[in-house]
Amino acid sequence: MTLPIATPWLFSQPNQDPRAATGAALRWGVIATGRIASLVSRDLALLSDAELYAVSSRQQAAADAFASEFGFSRAYGDDDGQQGYQRLLADDAVDVVYVATPHAQHHQMVLAALNAGKHVLCEKAFTINAREAAELIAVARDKNLFLMEAVWSRFLPSMQRAFEIARSGELGTVRWVTADLGFPAPYSPTARLWAVKDGGGALLDLTVYPLLWALGTLGFPEAVSATGALNDDGVDTQNALTLEYHHGAQAQLTSSLLAYGPRAATVAGSLGYLQSLGSINNPKQLVVGIGREPLRTEHFDVAGLGYTYELREVTRCIQQGLTESPVMPLEDSLNTMRLFDGVRAQLGVSYPNDAR
Ligand SMILES: NC(=O)c1ccc[n+]([C@@H]2O[C@H](COP(=O)([O-])OP(=O)(O)OC[C@H]3O[C@@H](n4cnc5c(N)ncnc54)[C@H](OP(=O)(O)O)[C@@H]3O)[C@@H](O)[C@H]2O)c1
Repeated sequence: MTLPIATPWLFSQPNQDPRAATGAALRWGVIATGRIASLVSRDLALLSDAELYAVSSRQQAAADAFASEFGFSRAYGDDDGQQGYQRLLADDAVDVVYVATPHAQHHQMVLAALNAGKHVLCEKAFTINAREAAELIAVARDKNLFLMEAVWSRFLPSMQRAFEIARSGELGTVRWVTADLGFPAPYSPTARLWAVKDGGGALLDLTVYPLLWALGTLGFPEAVSATGALNDDGVDTQNALTLEYHHGAQAQLTSSLLAYGPRAATVAGSLGYLQSLGSINNPKQLVVGIGREPLRTEHFDVAGLGYTYELREVTRCIQQGLTESPVMPLEDSLNTMRLFDGVRAQLGVSYPNDAR
């Protein structure tokens, strides 16, 4: 598999408070009332130019409860043959939609939102496969609407700083990267993380984050080799990826739904190294070592839960008439889904969406 090298990306406003307004308020609509919808809505409420306008759910009662908890003015549940998300998308007052359903429904929800003329922020994994991603990107571009995958960690000051250090030359030439993410997820055939119909498995749910360390420091690789374990349902319970680069660099990424890992990233260069402390998707400290010895530790705080930075970027881009973020370009989401398609082919994982 040959993939293009990613262009360098750094957040343009890492030192600004992401809660501070950058223009006129946007009216947000949130599709789904699950775990991440709650966390992101909590951070959305911190932005002074965000109006928590509407939420949709498959159940009216869940939409009502979510609206009252977070302060949304409208709550749309399934009603008389019309689905909650369709009712939300039919509301002309909604400017931008946040899609927080399981991965397997991202394509359907984002397509409907774009066809309704809404800007979209869509959770990771962006889609189930590259074909779905390419279709959404083409529709967004055709309609001149903003679309972005919600890889929130890209926008965190700590991650931006890590990638800045790696690209600065302080570590010399980056030769290898390791990153891991894992925890034992209780098994249930109907739980999102395990269900084949929802795009379950470690790859689509977790590997986005270890991959981010490789993309931010080395870019997209020339080749990927993958090993993994599948359960009886055919989803990957864990996987190990080796990424190879044309200049001889390598990245080794591991993701698991079975075991706790240190959730650590290391960037190793010819002059020194960088280590993350705290989770790899929200590091609180970065240790820089020159030679074998640690030289300094940099400390980081986050505004809110940390989703405020991606929400600021979406808001800023829409306010400025941009249809994609230069920090999280659509090409990176498409190339990530191509990379994941290649990994799934090696692991033997397929989903119902692949046959559509
Ligand atoms: N950025 C992050 O930090 C982060 C963290 C966790 C998850 N995520 C991503 O966010 C997405 C959702 O994850 P989650 O942990 O929030 O899952 P979750 O707690 O299971 O919530 C998903 C919600 O989507 C709706 N839903 C479920 N099945 C559906 C279906 N078949 N059709 C339409 N809607 C359905 C449900 O809301 P209603 O009942 O209200 O319809 C459900 O509560 C996943 O793609 C995941 O990868 C991102």
